[in-house]
Amino acid sequence: MSTVIWHTMMSLDGFVAGPDDTMDWAFSHGGRSALADETRDSIGAILAGRRWYDVASARYDGVAGIYGGAWTGPVFVLTHRPEDLPDDPTVTVLSDGIEDAVSVARRAADGRAVGVLGAITAGQVVRAGLLDEIIVHIAPILLGDGVRFYGAPGTTATELELVERGDSEQVIDLRYRVRHPAA
Ligand SMILES: NC(=O)c1ccc[n+]([C@@H]2O[C@H](COP(=O)([O-])OP(=O)(O)OC[C@H]3O[C@@H](n4cnc5c(N)ncnc54)[C@H](OP(=O)(O)O)[C@@H]3O)[C@@H](O)[C@H]2O)c1
Repeated sequence: MSTVIWHTMMSLDGFVAGPDDTMDWAFSHGGRSALADETRDSIGAILAGRRWYDVASARYDGVAGIYGGAWTGPVFVLTHRPEDLPDDPTVTVLSDGIEDAVSVARRAADGRAVGVLGAITAGQVVRAGLLDEIIVHIAPILLGDGVRFYGAPGTTATELELVERGDSEQVIDLRYRVRHPAA
């Protein structure tokens, strides 16, 4: 079955986007990374949240801008408001919950990995027990405010296992396996 991966860049103080969804900091620190390239190449389908879609469409070329244009494949967008989404042939809209979304993306990935985009969406995948790996690149910046990587009051802990580390210039690359409690 496809591995489900949350691949993201994060500021040292734990934000995946700055105030007003700014991502300039990530682009300016996104140098060469063997782990990033390997992860991108392993992904067969993307499951994204509606906020990722709205921000990426308005500012970063939408689906064509994923991995700077170096990735193509099926992209699924989760939303409670499918009727508000513009008719966009580059994405498939899903609205039947996180378990259904992961299973649809897994089928589309056809044996390759599913990459998750958007912190709210990825957090749901974690809490549903469906995330296999977190691959995070820590940028040398304190953003101070923005979109948090993970967590809200009442969220319980999830154990991780560090399986790979590296660095590319100023950025620290970390790969974690999510430890699922024994069923
Ligand atoms: N640093 C990085 O590498 C990186 C990577 C990707 C994105 N980003 C940034 O992260 C931000 C977006 O992330 P985010 O955490 O704010 O939001 P997100 O996860 O992209 O989207 C969350 C939205 O998706 C919809 N959604 C999520 N789960 C759903 C479900 N189970 N059923 C139906 N709809 C569901 C809801 O929208 P509705 O209720 O409105 O439909 C929800 O508010 C942007 O600023 C983006 O640029 C950063």
